[in-house]
Amino acid sequence: MSHLIAPSILASDFANLQSESEMLDKSSADWFHIDVMDGVFVPNISFGMPIIKAIRKYSEKTFDVHLMIVEPQKYINDFKAAGADVLTVHYEVCNHLHRTLQEIKAAGMKAGVALNPHTNINVLEDIINDIDLVCIMSVNPGFGGQSFIENTYNKVTDLKALINKKNAPTLIEIDGGVTSANARQLIDAGADVLVAGSFVFKADNPTQTIEDLKNI
Ligand code: DX5
Ligand code: ZN
Repeated sequence: MSHLIAPSILASDFANLQSESEMLDKSSADWFHIDVMDGVFVPNISFGMPIIKAIRKYSEKTFDVHLMIVEPQKYINDFKAAGADVLTVHYEVCNHLHRTLQEIKAAGMKAGVALNPHTNINVLEDIINDIDLVCIMSVNPGFGGQSFIENTYNKVTDLKALINKKNAPTLIEIDGGVTSANARQLIDAGADVLVAGSFVFKADNPTQTIEDLKNI
């Protein structure tokens, strides 16, 4: 499978979400990456279901919703109703991760698990076959525009080895500080989905930047 590009709308112009969504819809972006922050799990607040619902009508592309919130299990059906296709929860906030993943799937979505930079991929050894997507955070979650953490390459290599060992169907997504300078090395290490926020939306030509990441 060729890699997927998931621009993060966190870096888009919130006053023009319609045109930003239409731009992504027409571009070679594969997914919309949508960052939900609660000010508790991460030191920042972004937006919630009403925004997802509002932009849902401008694209049928996959909505990849990254929940940086505590108690994500409380809102699974709400995010489904808002238009999420992939719902990713953080490992660090789930005491009953297996149950939460089953509930996400039962609601009709793909189930993702995100790992903070300090969380070793080995914690997923007993559950990897139940995970559709692992989101490796390559920055500390909470803000766009941060620098890429170099240890991420090792984590991708280790996770790819675990997925192969267990014959799991899991995709590897990288989130944070992704640019044309690290994209190729990430793909070579085993990444399937690249999230890019600032690199896309702060570019002079976001559409071309997405195309360049797609063809890297
Ligand atoms: C960070 C978010 C990322 C962020 C990426 O907490 O999860 O998705 O939007 O933005 P960049 O690409 O600017 O690091
Ligand atoms: Zn994200």
